[in-house]
Amino acid sequence: MAEAVKTAEQSASERPVVVSAVGLTKVFRDFWNRPKAKAVNDIDFEVREGEVVGLLGPNGSGKSTTVKMLLGLLYPTGGRLTVFGKSPRDVENKKLIGYLPEETYLYKYLTAFETLDFFASLFGLSKEERTRRCDQLLDMVGLAHARNRPVGEFSKGMARRIGLAQAMINDPAFLILDEPTSGLDPLGCREVKDLIKLLKKRGKTVIVTSHLLSDVEEVCDRIIVLYGGRIRANGGMEDLLTIRTNDTITVPRLPEEALERIRQIVRESVPDGEMSVAHPHMSLEDFFVDIVNEAKKESLETSGSRSGGAIAEYLTGDREHDAKAVLDSLTREEETPARTLAKKMEEDAAKAEEEAAKKRQDELFARLQASAPAPEEEKSRQAQQEIEAKMSEANRKLKDLLTNPTDRKD
Ligand SMILES: Nc1ncnc2c1ncn2[C@@H]1O[C@H](COP(=O)(O)OP(=O)(O)O)[C@@H](O)[C@H]1O
Ligand SMILES: [Mg+2]
Repeated sequence: MAEAVKTAEQSASERPVVVSAVGLTKVFRDFWNRPKAKAVNDIDFEVREGEVVGLLGPNGSGKSTTVKMLLGLLYPTGGRLTVFGKSPRDVENKKLIGYLPEETYLYKYLTAFETLDFFASLFGLSKEERTRRCDQLLDMVGLAHARNRPVGEFSKGMARRIGLAQAMINDPAFLILDEPTSGLDPLGCREVKDLIKLLKKRGKTVIVTSHLLSDVEEVCDRIIVLYGGRIRANGGMEDLLTIRTNDTITVPRLPEEALERIRQIVRESVPDGEMSVAHPHMSLEDFFVDIVNEAKKESLETSGSRSGGAIAEYLTGDREHDAKAVLDSLTREEETPARTLAKKMEEDAAKAEEEAAKKRQDELFARLQASAPAPEEEKSRQAQQEIEAKMSEANRKLKDLLTNPTDRKD
């Protein structure tokens, strides 16, 4: 295992550099040009192709400022920063980068589909391709049912999902996700994490910022911990988190006499070492996800956005044959029978709901057509016609009057 990790790390260090920061600094100044905040303070780091790097730190530690400099939205005050070997402001980079901002600003009157379609059009995609991608992405982030709803009505979690879909619309090589799980429920968090894992499998480079440690722990190869604009730790997950002074052995539950024999062996091998025996814990998140899936199985419904659907086909890379296989094996690994059943029941319920709504709409429409008085437009069209007829009559009379003044009878 340790060998395998080592090999993975070695190959990561041989891959092309995507981001290189040397002495990167950003000082915000006030109106009088006096330094106000040293948001990023002389940091060095590198991100290589295919790496998923977590930028961790408490609020105000400089994560978003670093991200904005990577995107060319903010100028560094000092140091050197390159993305794909070029200046972050280089236009070519825009095609290669997908960005989920910390706050998603959406035009509230556009529907979910129109929002994505708008961003897709910025990348010059054909109408057909745009529609295909938008629908696949909406399905993937669990918003297919809200396709035609204005995004102004969306909850924070739903807005986050549409933001994620938007960041992926151009199938970018490098994704920068600023607090992707903020505002999401644990199920949504799990789905975002699954998505990041998939992006990694597809060889994408990802920088994800978070102040929630558990969010990055599962998906990142490497973490950079920022505090007060400085890097406090930078390293592989394995290296930083493994406690090398202890060993853990997980076995099926042992009878008391077997435990006693093991204690004896430990005492002989490490005379002053302490041994503790405990049952392993599942994470609170796993526990929560299990409970929700159980509830779903019992057909308990929650409103708002539903669980995400299949990963968008164009993201699975139909061009690369093995990507699909990787994806299949990935989803198979994650899927539990409870999840599959819950998903199926949810889909069936949504379908039935949709059909019922359509039926109600058709009935209403038929009733309206049968008994309703002429619609408003029809009425106003008739009134307009009457006015026009009167006007032309008046015009004709006036013309007669002017051309034949002698014909006046009164
Ligand atoms: N536009 C700005 N003007 C002045 N100070 C700013 C600005 N943006 C961020 N800061 C300051 O820079 C520091 C880092 O902010 P930020 O990068 O947003 O942190 P994080 O994303 O880690 O929460 C904070 O002290 C913040 O107040
Ligand atoms: Mg931030």
